Amino acid sequence: MFPQTRLRRLRMHPRLRDLVRETRLAPSDFILPLFVRTGSNQRIPIRSMPGQFQLSVDQLPAEIQEIESLGIPAIILFGIPDHKDARGTGAYSDDGIVQQALRTIKETGSQTLLMADVCLCEFTDHGHCGVINESAGRPDVDNDATLPLLVKEAVSVARAGADLIAPSGMMDGMIQALRSGLDEAQLTHVPIMSYAAKYASGFYGPFREAAESAPQFGDRRSYQMDPANGAEALREVALDVAEGADMLMVKPALSYLDVIRRVKDAHPEVPLAAYNVSGEYAMLKAAAANGWIDEQRVTLEILTSIRRAGADMILTYHAKEACRWLNG
Ligand code: PBG
Repeated sequence: MFPQTRLRRLRMHPRLRDLVRETRLAPSDFILPLFVRTGSNQRIPIRSMPGQFQLSVDQLPAEIQEIESLGIPAIILFGIPDHKDARGTGAYSDDGIVQQALRTIKETGSQTLLMADVCLCEFTDHGHCGVINESAGRPDVDNDATLPLLVKEAVSVARAGADLIAPSGMMDGMIQALRSGLDEAQLTHVPIMSYAAKYASGFYGPFREAAESAPQFGDRRSYQMDPANGAEALREVALDVAEGADMLMVKPALSYLDVIRRVKDAHPEVPLAAYNVSGEYAMLKAAAANGWIDEQRVTLEILTSIRRAGADMILTYHAKEACRWLNG
């Protein structure tokens, strides 16, 4: 008459629940994105991302100290330059904003792992991720003309102190071009974390405000992936692995948990990151500010779900607060 198997038995004692927990969340899982700008003494709040700021370079040493004390192992830098042009020159000039930020942090002797996003969109006046070619009758991003510029950017940020580069432009052949470019510049030790499956997503809205990088015409659908496609992500990922990606990323995270799982199952041997993007952060902050959800509980539940889906690490704006909660 009695149920022989009672799954509730393992849920009765809190210590037992801890012991049988399948997915754990720790400060060592997080990578915190930071926005850097020129000027001094600047800490400009980003309206749609409460708790996030555009920081001038002089603010970084103190910021990094706090990040280290919380146990966050890595940051990823996004630059907001003074000057933008059609070819995104600021991305690959040795005194560019990201290069300055990297040198400033390295000079502190910090052990924090410094990742650099490699893309042109923050540095082009048109806001696209590559150079524009009009020859097809309508303007489009010129894939092959963009690759050498991305190589210049990667080499420049690596020389300035980036420990890892994270190309996010979704150009074809990008990983192979970057690997050979880094190797030819004697930067054979610099790993590449590819934004392998990056979707053309509405969830990047607040980031584009934060990084001042919204496209000035058209959209990114000719290079970023269609949100309706899952199998195609596996083709993107397989190519990037073959071209030499050391780590992979799926982005955004929350609406793409199935893609994270499929990528992890297809390449269990390759470390996988997921980017919990700006719109995901903004939605949660808005609901919390209205008192509609329990912020701590929901944030940790979301981060846990991204790990459970198969991500080994998470790029997230929640990194600091999540560490404070986890460190108790
Ligand atoms: C492109 C880039 C974007 C994000 C990270 N790298 C924006 C885009 O593709 O428009 C978005 C991150 C976020 O929304 O948090 N360099």
